[in-house]
Amino acid sequence: MNVLILGSGGRENAIAWKLKQSTLVKNIFVAPGNAGTDLIATNLSLGVNNFDKIAEAIKIENIDMLVVGPEDPLVNGITDYFRSKSDFSNLKIIGPSKKAAQLEGSKNFAKKFMHKYKIPTARYFTAKKENINEAVEFIKSLKPPYVLKADGLAAGKGVLIIEEYDTAVSELNNMLSGKFGEASKKVVIEEFLDGEELSIFAVTDGKNYVLLPEAKDYKRIGENNTGLNTGGMGAVSPVSFFNNEFKNKVIEKIVKPTIFGLESENMDYVGFVFIGLINVNGEPYVIEYNVRMGDPETEVVLLRLKTDFAKILVAAYSKTLQNIKVVFKNDAAATIMLVSGGYPEDYEKNKEILGLDYQGESVLFHAGTKKEGDKILTNGGRVLAVSSLGKDMICALTQSYKTIEKISFDKMNYRHDIGFEIK
Ligand code: AMP
Ligand code: GLY
Repeated sequence: MNVLILGSGGRENAIAWKLKQSTLVKNIFVAPGNAGTDLIATNLSLGVNNFDKIAEAIKIENIDMLVVGPEDPLVNGITDYFRSKSDFSNLKIIGPSKKAAQLEGSKNFAKKFMHKYKIPTARYFTAKKENINEAVEFIKSLKPPYVLKADGLAAGKGVLIIEEYDTAVSELNNMLSGKFGEASKKVVIEEFLDGEELSIFAVTDGKNYVLLPEAKDYKRIGENNTGLNTGGMGAVSPVSFFNNEFKNKVIEKIVKPTIFGLESENMDYVGFVFIGLINVNGEPYVIEYNVRMGDPETEVVLLRLKTDFAKILVAAYSKTLQNIKVVFKNDAAATIMLVSGGYPEDYEKNKEILGLDYQGESVLFHAGTKKEGDKILTNGGRVLAVSSLGKDMICALTQSYKTIEKISFDKMNYRHDIGFEIK
């Protein structure tokens, strides 16, 4: 089978790395990819939203399976695009339909879905310019801090958590007036939930599902979870509080009703369901749905996965997931992101990365990197996901930090405290 993976981050490098271990997979292409995917696959210089060009490449390279990494093309309807063309009726697309991708593309849609299928989540109100007075009344009914979320995709920046009532009301007005463009024409206001977060990942065929290992990511730029939100500065798996009791609650109260909801709504869902959860005094609540894998969560999840990943994806496409048993390693996995100085605000690119020859026991998944001549240069905010397995979390973390000592580039930054609460 020939596979095309769309995207250019650590997630896509990890997916390519894992699929390369499968006996079912012959050739792997990544579009547009990065310097890391270039080492193990063939990069194609195509934008992830350029469906016509992607279709041409699929024909030229005889692609059998298309794995969509990021959310954008899914929300833009890439799956419907290929399903509507008879030439591509045999293409195994891993990614939900445009309608189902609204679970990530619209917070309001996701909240309504959770409400309908009685899935535990924070109390909410969807504000629009027309109902601003009711929205303000809803804010008044909440205890601070106040959570304001742009309805649409806002590159991870659309959620504000605000301490002061007055600021919450003025920010609500700013958002409705276009602070995040079209994405904040509607704003979901939520009660604040206090607890520890984790992410779980299901692969579904729209009816059956299998769970991949759980993970936790570290979103803030600064140590002790301070400073601005980022795409993710590191990830660990397993997560200690995801014990059998909590896991059973998650499955019964969240995963099963979610899959039931997808089926009941005829969502045509073949792909990943990423559920961001929060543990409030032992009870799980959904913070958000994503319709793709997480980054950097994928890096730790796939390091721990024993089962042939391509077999899982083929079973999802052929709607036979009930026959698949997913096995993961008992080892712990830890990923530390090396980022460009200044990220998540302005940063410089094109810095030469040194020390990439040494991997030790780690796997280096590339994110924002590119090859120029015989050099590898930085090409984004998040640059490298240094990932390791260990017999326990301390070993996995120690290994990743040991590998990082050998790697350098100008203004390289990373968090020294990933997994701090576990140590
Ligand atoms: P989201 O994009 O919905 O995942 O939100 C981004 C981050 O904001 C989450 O990972 C949480 O850390 C935080 N957050 C979102 N909603 C809530 C909530 N209702 N209560 C507390 N924290 C939240
Ligand atoms: N790491 C969070 C995400 O991929 O959305």
